Amino acid sequence: MKRNVIVGQSGGPTAAINSSLAGVYRTARDRGAHKVYGMLHGIQGLLQERYLDLSEYITTELDAELLKRTPAAFLGSCRYKLPEIHEDQAVYEKIFSILDKLDIEAFIYIGGNDSMDTIKKLSDYAIVTGHPTRFIGCPKTIDNDLALTDHTPGYGSAAKYIGTSVKEIIRDSFCLEYSKGLVSIVEIMGRNAGWLTGAAALAKGEDCEGPDLIYLPEIPFDLHAFSEKVKEILSKKPSVVVAVSEGIRTADGTYVCELGSSIDFVDAFGHKQLSGTASYLASFIAGEIGCKTRAIELSSLQRSASHAASRVDILEAYQVGGAAVKAADEGDSGKMVVLNRLSDDPYQCGTEVKDVHKIANDEKLVPREWVNEEGTGVTDEFVAYVRPLIQGDVSPVMVDGIPRHLFRPYNL
Ligand code: F6P
Repeated sequence: MKRNVIVGQSGGPTAAINSSLAGVYRTARDRGAHKVYGMLHGIQGLLQERYLDLSEYITTELDAELLKRTPAAFLGSCRYKLPEIHEDQAVYEKIFSILDKLDIEAFIYIGGNDSMDTIKKLSDYAIVTGHPTRFIGCPKTIDNDLALTDHTPGYGSAAKYIGTSVKEIIRDSFCLEYSKGLVSIVEIMGRNAGWLTGAAALAKGEDCEGPDLIYLPEIPFDLHAFSEKVKEILSKKPSVVVAVSEGIRTADGTYVCELGSSIDFVDAFGHKQLSGTASYLASFIAGEIGCKTRAIELSSLQRSASHAASRVDILEAYQVGGAAVKAADEGDSGKMVVLNRLSDDPYQCGTEVKDVHKIANDEKLVPREWVNEEGTGVTDEFVAYVRPLIQGDVSPVMVDGIPRHLFRPYNL
């Protein structure tokens, strides 16, 4: 590389997203990039000319190691939808003038399906105008819903946290005896895809029965059938643990969390803020059965738990960051790096790049055959798919008993 690289982070953060940032930085420098800039809060910040020089923050190998172990987007993130080119050309002129000013050779965007929309539009504009900057997407999302890739960095660590937490919740739920039993409902992120919720099944093992019921957003949710199922299980054991996706919907398409109260917040990509599913179901079951209930929303914990990150995930996140820079350096644009699983045992995965037009704005859902017939759990194939992705640990750098992170003032 002869000129500069700019990298941004976009969408919901993960425990591995900064490992990709570290991979982009290291590879760009190794390949001769003069400067590696970081957009502050993605494309939205870039439009306000907010960026930093990463070499001021990654000055030692220890900084790079801390970055890999720091959750949430180090550069700050955004949910910003670029207009169509014909709708507002001025936005594109502004972005490309900033890229020219910074002498950018490669633009790397670490994000999910909405963020790949940004890579698609910018690379299209570069083609139309004959601009030489190359645009490459680097996959990231705990939701694991990106098309054409076996899985996405960020998913393995969140899945590991969910499997572990659900197991700990199950253990806790059998301690105290309540006269009419206890029903614990664990709400898990993932919007319209059940990859994360299905990972609750990882809790099952020789020492744990696993969750009693798992409800994915791909399958319509029936409140009456749910209550009957819970009653049936409660007649056999004192505690029931249920994993539910934040995005479960009734047959008419209404989100269960909307049954409790209406959703006011909708982001730039039209996604409703989903939360409150567990608390709605916990009140519903308490009303139906009169038992003790607990609503547990894993919320941001599941995507920021870098102390429980998967080693496979952190390494792959770093690898895709490097592969994105390599692809740009070798002349690719309008592509996203994908992970190809080569084998399960031993687990092996490689990277290649695929056309971002076939990935942006799409959602890869859990196949129906990986959900049991009743729609209340996932199959062994599902568990076999996710198990390799949660392997290994990454020890945090502990200072005074608490993990140390790479710090950046938020008000830059
Ligand atoms: O896009 C990833 C994700 O974590 C989804 O699983 C979740 O629905 C959403 O982000 C939450 O977004 P926010 O943090 O903006 O509420």
